[in-house]
Amino acid sequence: MHLLHTPDDFIAYRKSLSGTIGLVPTMGALHAGHLSLVNHARADNQHVITTIFVNPAQFGQGEDFTAYPRTLDADLQKLAHAGVDAVFLPTPDNMYPRGYQTYITVEDITRGLEGAMRPTHFRGVTTVVAKLFNLAQPTTAYFGQKDAQQVCVIRRMVRDLHMPLSIAVIPTSRESDGLAMSSRNVYLSDEQRTGAVCLSRGILRASSLYDAGERNPSALLNAVADEIQKESQASADYIALNVARTLAPIAVIPSADWGMGDMPHTDEPLLLSLTVRFGKTRLLDNALLPHHLNTRDGLTAVLGAG
Ligand code: PAJ
Repeated sequence: MHLLHTPDDFIAYRKSLSGTIGLVPTMGALHAGHLSLVNHARADNQHVITTIFVNPAQFGQGEDFTAYPRTLDADLQKLAHAGVDAVFLPTPDNMYPRGYQTYITVEDITRGLEGAMRPTHFRGVTTVVAKLFNLAQPTTAYFGQKDAQQVCVIRRMVRDLHMPLSIAVIPTSRESDGLAMSSRNVYLSDEQRTGAVCLSRGILRASSLYDAGERNPSALLNAVADEIQKESQASADYIALNVARTLAPIAVIPSADWGMGDMPHTDEPLLLSLTVRFGKTRLLDNALLPHHLNTRDGLTAVLGAG
């Protein structure tokens, strides 16, 4: 496995490759969710490149940039075992050297949901991802459903800037009790970890209601809210229903200025998403409604693609 430390290393390595290339961008602290992206990339492509970079540009003031878990040796072992060809491991100074001043901003769809909670976050994500796309020139880049708004924003950038690649969206990998895997789960106390199952439980309840014909946005959101309220340590930042393809808002709890629209008249797929705080830790989860769309093909058709 090649270790690429600088953008120049990456450019030289990329020039040596021909054939299909799968790119899996990460911030490290790798778990089975990341490895599922790698496995899809491995199955589809002649070459697989993973990047590990805790990107300072996407962390706001007071967020966990310095505390973010870093487990490089274990990460490299997992990637070698998964058959990755090369790993890009830049430093912040390599990526944002003195004098750096170019950023990419995607507009409307970054304003609600995570963008409302973290106003500079997506600008940092799109900037670093565009840089990684330029370096890797991948055939397909792999992203997780878990960060559904992230993938919508990246798809918008890819379309708007004519970036010649496909986006594959891989379903969320979960622990056996349903908790979505996340590098930030290590921050949870034992009690919080037990309670954290309320996110996936709430989503399951709403998604069963939807599949049984419920179309009242409040009924769907309240089903999720009921599960969150059962956990004394849990506090929801938002529980939201959006049109999945556009992220046009339908309803949100608590109501926010980024959010009230109409339920579509057709069975246009919806994105149900929420973030819940346990102490200082924010957990995210989401699902497409109807439930059967939560597969790679369904997710990629609705949220990803070229
Ligand atoms: P990170 O949080 O490390 O996630 C890297 C990729 O793994 C993302 O596409 C994310 O959606 C996916 N992922 C995380 N948890 C997952 C799970 N449980 N199941 C499936 N996929 C999962 O997202 C980022 O890094 C950064 O914003 C990045 C895109 C690398 C830009 O810096």
